[in-house]
Amino acid sequence: MCGIVGYLGEKKASDVILSGLKKLEYRGYDSCGITFFDEGNHRFVTYKDKGRVNHLVEDFDYSFFNRLGIGHTRWATHGRPNQINSHPHFSETTRFSVVHNGVIENYKELTVKYLADVHFVSETDTEVIADLIERFSQEMSVEEAIRKTLSLIEGSYALLILDTENPSVMYAAKNKSPLLIGTALEGITLASDIMALVGYATQYLPIEDKVFTVVCRQPDGSVGFRMHDILGHRIEMPLQKLDLALDEIGMGGYSHYMLKEICEQPAVVRKIVARYFEGDDFVVSPKIHQVLKKAEKIYIIAAGTSMHAGFVGRYLLENIAKKPAEVFIASEFAYNPPLLCANPAFLFISQSGETADLRTCLVKIKEMGYPSVTITNVPTSTLAREADHFMEICAGPEIAVASTKAYVGQVVILAILAHCLADRKVFDLKEELSKVAVAMEALIDKREYIHALVREKITKRNCFYIGRGLDFFTCLEAALKLKEISYIQTEGFAAAELKHGTIALIEDGVPVIAIISQKNVNNLTRANIREVLSRGANKIVISLNRLSDPSDELVLMDVHEMLSPMLTVIPTQLIAFYSALDLGRDIDKPRNLAKSVTVE
Ligand code: AGP
Ligand code: GLU
Repeated sequence: MCGIVGYLGEKKASDVILSGLKKLEYRGYDSCGITFFDEGNHRFVTYKDKGRVNHLVEDFDYSFFNRLGIGHTRWATHGRPNQINSHPHFSETTRFSVVHNGVIENYKELTVKYLADVHFVSETDTEVIADLIERFSQEMSVEEAIRKTLSLIEGSYALLILDTENPSVMYAAKNKSPLLIGTALEGITLASDIMALVGYATQYLPIEDKVFTVVCRQPDGSVGFRMHDILGHRIEMPLQKLDLALDEIGMGGYSHYMLKEICEQPAVVRKIVARYFEGDDFVVSPKIHQVLKKAEKIYIIAAGTSMHAGFVGRYLLENIAKKPAEVFIASEFAYNPPLLCANPAFLFISQSGETADLRTCLVKIKEMGYPSVTITNVPTSTLAREADHFMEICAGPEIAVASTKAYVGQVVILAILAHCLADRKVFDLKEELSKVAVAMEALIDKREYIHALVREKITKRNCFYIGRGLDFFTCLEAALKLKEISYIQTEGFAAAELKHGTIALIEDGVPVIAIISQKNVNNLTRANIREVLSRGANKIVISLNRLSDPSDELVLMDVHEMLSPMLTVIPTQLIAFYSALDLGRDIDKPRNLAKSVTVE
């Protein structure tokens, strides 16, 4: 999780790093820190503390001339979020300063074997890295000492390392956790995410696992970098043009990224249509088509919101393409895989393309020789690079921790894939998607009404969503969204399932939100609504116009039944947003969470 940024060049390093950390803060935000070289006084300065990047920016002194530094925003895995456990961490004599994203699985064994006499300051798994480097550097060059350390540590890491005895060099390495290098005439920036490079790099390159990178200032003052494998052999990798613009990652006049991203959803649908249709034909790679068409069964692997998109995808693949599909929680599939069919294909769905639970599955699947396709919003991400094929969601950068437009984008891509694999045209997808975009706009325009509904109805510490068929999957997603940002305990249920136990929790005033977009189960869901009403529930019914009842609280424009999850999810996103707003929650950065979950 977490974000790291490093800089060596002509610009003020602390400015580049702090602005990068702000952009990466959504990845982890329980504490943060920075080490930079104060050239005037020839000393390294470190500031770190519990809390947000704003605290780091506002409450410390950056007036010194500095052109080298590393920074970190943390999502704690080992040790509480406090000042001492914040990164950077130092070696015993403070010679080496390290920031780390990930988890060192064997840090205890390494401590016993190599560092039994060292006094550790923090509770983290990171400090051992700095100490190992220092220990080995007593007998070999610093580069060799770092490479030896890398050969010993097991787990996931993106690392930036400074040697306080050499203020013209910064070292970097990675395994499993993402790390990119960005170059510009003025200097070199390293960061966990491309967003931190925007404005400071014109070209970039995602660093590969187990690659060791040395960034150094040359005698003529210019800054360059070289890459080595673990044995020290030089590696050459081509740089790519960076064409993400600053305004794509701004708030664009909205109060929150989440609200901006909710409102962008009609545009996302249209953008995906423009990307994946040419006239009425699909523009999907023939190789992806071939891999999925040939498969006896498609295994969908995902986590969280993306898994909910996977449930909708399975429905669409089975009902439109007549292709058997199954959905698995990535972390479960990784260590408890099912009995696979003889000829499987794997579909990974991930907004970030960095989720560690998925990556573990992908590595195993590749070892087994099965084909893989990633659907992701980040074309430079690990899962996009490492799967055999990938499809871009084209939702634009999603910054709020709660996923909204990427979810809708995933469902649109899955609908395109399902149609593409179908032997006959089931309906005019392009036409129907354009109706979805229009219905979304009409709904988003009514968002103040949804805010009023929230004020009236969402008044308890718990809440339930109920629905059947495709609406059940939307309920799962709706519940995750509401609990994730408002901290109201919420569950999504198959409407009939409530009466098998959970209905015991319904009492006066408990909000129950029902979603109705599926004709075949409309009456049955309505019967379930009556059951909770008889027990005092405070209902909100969200229905499509053609299935609506005059007593329904929110009636949406009609869209194709199979595409309804793209539309019905939006009021639930707005319910989550306004509930969190009224409760004064930190909507874009909810507690305990991070945007990219790069630890298992
Ligand atoms: C979404 O609101 C959540 N923050 C979370 O469930 C997320 O969808 C999950 O961590 C998977 O992330 P990914 O799509 O980047 O793989
Ligand atoms: N494992 C390290 C820690 O707990 C790094 C966590 C992170 O990636 O933010 O400090």
